[in-house]
Amino acid sequence: MLDINSQINKQIYLKSSPKDKLTKENFELKESKINHLDNNQVLVEVIYISIDAANRAWMQGRTYRSQILPGDVMGGYALGKVIDSKSNKYKVGDYVEGDLGWQNYSIVNEAELIKTSIKSSENLHMSVLGITGKTAYFGLELAELKKGETVLISAAAGAVGNVAGQIAKIQGCKVIGITGSDDKAKWLIDELGFDGVINYKNDNFVKDLRAICPEKIDVYFDNVGGPIFESVLFAMNNFGRIICCGAVSQYDQAAPQNGPRGVPGLIVTKRLSLKGFIVMDFEDKKHEAEKQLMEWIDNKQIKPAEDIIIGLENTPSALIGLLNGENKGKRMVKLIK
Ligand SMILES: NC(=O)c1ccc[n+]([C@@H]2O[C@H](COP(=O)([O-])OP(=O)(O)OC[C@H]3O[C@@H](n4cnc5c(N)ncnc54)[C@H](OP(=O)(O)O)[C@@H]3O)[C@@H](O)[C@H]2O)c1
Repeated sequence: MLDINSQINKQIYLKSSPKDKLTKENFELKESKINHLDNNQVLVEVIYISIDAANRAWMQGRTYRSQILPGDVMGGYALGKVIDSKSNKYKVGDYVEGDLGWQNYSIVNEAELIKTSIKSSENLHMSVLGITGKTAYFGLELAELKKGETVLISAAAGAVGNVAGQIAKIQGCKVIGITGSDDKAKWLIDELGFDGVINYKNDNFVKDLRAICPEKIDVYFDNVGGPIFESVLFAMNNFGRIICCGAVSQYDQAAPQNGPRGVPGLIVTKRLSLKGFIVMDFEDKKHEAEKQLMEWIDNKQIKPAEDIIIGLENTPSALIGLLNGENKGKRMVKLIK
């Protein structure tokens, strides 16, 4: 039988707060013994760590969670299995999700966990059936899409963006993506059925945007903020809806930049609405979303796109790479072989 308390826990700590772009030197790998559990705590063996653009924003200051500071185990949403329990709510063998951190084993209070029933492969619960897919699903629900509308999505080849694009296609919309490479643009059109994609790194981005959406944009699903958000404001239709999902262009620096031109003037004259949301707000409706997403996967209307990296020690480079646009689809780190 496994003697848990003799196991070594490998943990990645934030060593220093990044002053500018995140580097591997901001992290440090340490080993420790696993502590004994207190009442209402469980010991979880981490299986998959979700690599999220937001991980970097958590180092900038307070967001919807507390700031990650030097000396903290790096925070990160993850899927794991209970291997020891002093909780009446969780037993050994249960799958759980939560902020388990960048480590092999996590001791967590029962109130901070969500029990997960695995309906398909474990990795699918990190991608389309996980936070990623549900963010796309609930974000688009707020947009109240109508058939035939033009939907623009930034970070379209990323985790949330690619699912949002596929859902908007299912709903009969014209879907245009924004991404940072021609290879990703081709993949979105050829493999995932986007109607068009523009590369924001091209000099003529604004011209390309106008050319690809001559009818202008009804819904903008914004994952990036910054200069792209500003350009899109000018290309919106009257009564357009902007879904503010995230602002990845503002994360990998000391602090976010000043806001864009056109606010609030264009919001008034074009009668735009901006809606921000956090996926956890929809916890009570998550089963409905999972059921629908699973149905779309089964019917081949959504193709899951996953980018799986092996090994805890590769977690820092996985996040740095994601911020630099390395990933196609949902990036995650697998810890258990
Ligand atoms: N509201 C919520 O509840 C919620 C939940 C989950 C995620 N989010 C947000 O959703 C967004 C996507 O997150 P994710 O974790 O799924 O990451 P992701 O889209 O898988 O990866 C981030 C992508 O952003 C693009 N990017 C990086 N820097 C950029 C820049 N300066 N300008 C434009 N694009 C840039 C890169 O692709 P390119 O090659 O295209 O540059 C990169 O692959 C983030 O803003 C995140 O905070 C929100």
